[in-house]
Amino acid sequence: MLNWDDYNESEKAQKAQPIIKEDEPVKAQERPEESIPEHVPAAAGERAKQAKEAIEVLDTKEGEEELDGMSGRVQVDDKAMINCRADLNQLVPFKYDWAWQKYLDGSANHWMPQEVNMTADIALWKSNEGLTEDERTIVMRNLGFFSTADSLVANNLVLAIYRLITNPECRQYILRQSFEEAIHTHAYQYCIESLGMDEGEIFNMYREIPSVAKKASWGLKYTKEISDPGFVTGTDETDKLLLKNLIAFYCVLEGIFFYCGFTQILSMGRRNKMTGTAEQFQYILRDESMHLNFGIDMINQIKIENPHLWDEQMRQEAAQMILEGTELEIQYARDTMPRGILGMNAGMMEEYLQFIANRRLVQIGLEEEFEGATNPFPWMSEIMDLRKEKNFFETRVIEYQTGGALSWD
Ligand SMILES: [Fe+2]
Ligand SMILES: [Fe+2]
Repeated sequence: MLNWDDYNESEKAQKAQPIIKEDEPVKAQERPEESIPEHVPAAAGERAKQAKEAIEVLDTKEGEEELDGMSGRVQVDDKAMINCRADLNQLVPFKYDWAWQKYLDGSANHWMPQEVNMTADIALWKSNEGLTEDERTIVMRNLGFFSTADSLVANNLVLAIYRLITNPECRQYILRQSFEEAIHTHAYQYCIESLGMDEGEIFNMYREIPSVAKKASWGLKYTKEISDPGFVTGTDETDKLLLKNLIAFYCVLEGIFFYCGFTQILSMGRRNKMTGTAEQFQYILRDESMHLNFGIDMINQIKIENPHLWDEQMRQEAAQMILEGTELEIQYARDTMPRGILGMNAGMMEEYLQFIANRRLVQIGLEEEFEGATNPFPWMSEIMDLRKEKNFFETRVIEYQTGGALSWD
């Protein structure tokens, strides 16, 4: 846990140190001018000459070629989600304000796992009473699934999506999202370590527990081809592969595969069990709902700019992917909840997942598949919309938005 008192003490100790110790040699820039030698050593002189020659190349045609395609000021109309030829190093002028706004919102929601108090969870987990075997299974399975799932998402972002989305404001959010995924993996590791679980068992569930393994391998299938460094977009076939990857990761992995586990752990928190773990999941869910919304915006923008990609075949494949994901998540619900628990059961979760699947389909412009599916857990939407200062579990909160509260004196 962060302790600002410790920080202040060590800061004070540093301030108490003299800047230059008596026995320390005086640095070159602090020497009196007359003591600077007039001649630099021959080796350094040669290196300096080579460095000058090397940068002279930048003034030549060869140097201009390095900036090929980047010369000239970027106009808004030059910008595009994929296959863009404009300079990607220039953030402005903005074209996709929604992407920049999500970057700002994500940054304002910053949090770290160590801020959450895990004391009550540790006591509860280590006691022989207080948690049933079914409740313990739920905690372990979900930490098992999520501890590797967020790494799959992060790797897909960094190794595949980032390179292929050719827009700086979207890339800015993808960088933010990538860091959030690192925080999520950190949060799961923090829970696993705090509770003293067998790390080998938990981190290998994505290989060894079928309902977890199937979800992971379903996602990995869509990363494989497009994360190849030689993969490029620009044909209908490759552009569609990227679009399918976005649907797999944003609509299915982050948009469906996370929802059974989130609901189960947050339901525990509502019953005053594993409240620290539930609070970590609450912050993660809030981040994830923004990731999902960003992904939906990207998918729809790519469709607007490239309507030929969204043909009948692609629409059918997209709907099929969402249905496959829903079925895998229903199997996961049955596996993690063989009996009714925490006021829920696998049947209710199935309806919830059908309700979620309908939303994902409609969000990308497809028809609903599960007629009349309703939400049996309306409290989930309330949690997603909570702001950090209105903390559900009323534990300690740091508001990063108020940067002015930091004192640099
Ligand atoms: Fe995540
Ligand atoms: Fe995410």
